[in-house]
Amino acid sequence: MKKALRFVVILLLLVIGLGLAFVAYLEISGIPIYAVEKVNFPQVQITPERIARGEKIASVQCIVCHRGSDGKLSGRLLHEMPPNFGEIHSANITQSKEHGIGNWTDEQIAYLLRTGCKPDGQFLPVYMPKFAHLSDEDLKSVIAFLHSDRPCVQPSEIAKVTSKPSLLVKFLCHVAFKKIPYPTAAIAEPDTTNMVDYGRYLVNGRYDCYACHSRDFTKLDFVNPEKSFGYMSGGNTLITLEGKIRYSANITMCPKTGIGTWTEEDMGRALRDHKNKEGKPIREPMLPYNGLTDLEVKAIWKYIQTVPVIENKVDRKWDED
Ligand code: HEC
Ligand code: HEC
Repeated sequence: MKKALRFVVILLLLVIGLGLAFVAYLEISGIPIYAVEKVNFPQVQITPERIARGEKIASVQCIVCHRGSDGKLSGRLLHEMPPNFGEIHSANITQSKEHGIGNWTDEQIAYLLRTGCKPDGQFLPVYMPKFAHLSDEDLKSVIAFLHSDRPCVQPSEIAKVTSKPSLLVKFLCHVAFKKIPYPTAAIAEPDTTNMVDYGRYLVNGRYDCYACHSRDFTKLDFVNPEKSFGYMSGGNTLITLEGKIRYSANITMCPKTGIGTWTEEDMGRALRDHKNKEGKPIREPMLPYNGLTDLEVKAIWKYIQTVPVIENKVDRKWDED
């Protein structure tokens, strides 16, 4: 009996010891640094068309996280991040050479947006999204916007505050959220005459609807978005700017728990005017997509008709406000 007890105690100590060693390893090794490959990404030709397109994409994909106290993209504390992620600050991405990204080459910006790795190989965890599926033209447009004369990207001398990611984030960077491979071939513009293909691109590439609208951030498939767990069936936990929990909606065509009774017009109103079929406001963190063209709305709608229907009732917390 005594012998058995001693065995259990030794086993327990061993397990605790291994656990502590793992925690120490995570603390010391921190967030991984990857080798940076040389990629072929020539300097972007800046045209008014690209700036306008880039501004439209950035208005829903970058600005909300990067806009700081001076109204420029100077960075801020992201209180809408889950508290167990630590203290996360977005960066100054204005044209300031000292505090922003004024010294980065277009290749370095493209590499970061595609893979999540900075020029020194430092990986940015899940709180900075990766844009693996943006077409090359959309990516160039975002970069053209960052170099443009728009007021929000002019140099801001607000210094970047270093984030303090939690142990959980460090752990996730070792097991789940890793560097995304840089694409091996050019990513062509979607075929805008094929509504389903175009819609798939908008949902998984240009606007990343799937990331919020699938079931669980930790079970997203960044390489094959359609294989994400509970693809487009909602329930993902998001946090509003006031720190309240809000779950994303089921936007599969399920008549009971999704948008199966909606029409294309309802979708257009939801995206652009931020009202759902019943006239209720669609609340943050879903942003208004007021710049969407009719063709984009139609394509998103046509594509959603082809997405497998999943029954998943989401608690929308309508009584909260
Ligand atoms: C969900 C919030 C969020 C969104 C959306 C977002 N970012 Fe970020 N971004 C961050 C955070 C947080 C960091 C800083 C992470 C760190 O260093 O701790 C960051 C870092 C960066 C950096 C690195 C700057 C540096 O000096 O380290 C660049 C460049 C950048 N973002 C550009 C963009 C662009 C361009 C977009 C849109 C296409 C975008 N981000 C969208 C949160 C976001
Ligand atoms: C930042 C995360 C996020 C992104 C990105 C996002 N959504 Fe949403 N969406 C939400 C949340 C959260 C709700 C629920 C809002 C509420 O309950 O008021 C929602 C609600 C909706 C609704 C209303 C459904 C209903 O039954 O009321 C539709 C439709 C919708 N989103 C479509 C889209 C499409 C299409 C895209 C991409 C163009 C998109 N969303 C991008 C988070 C997001």
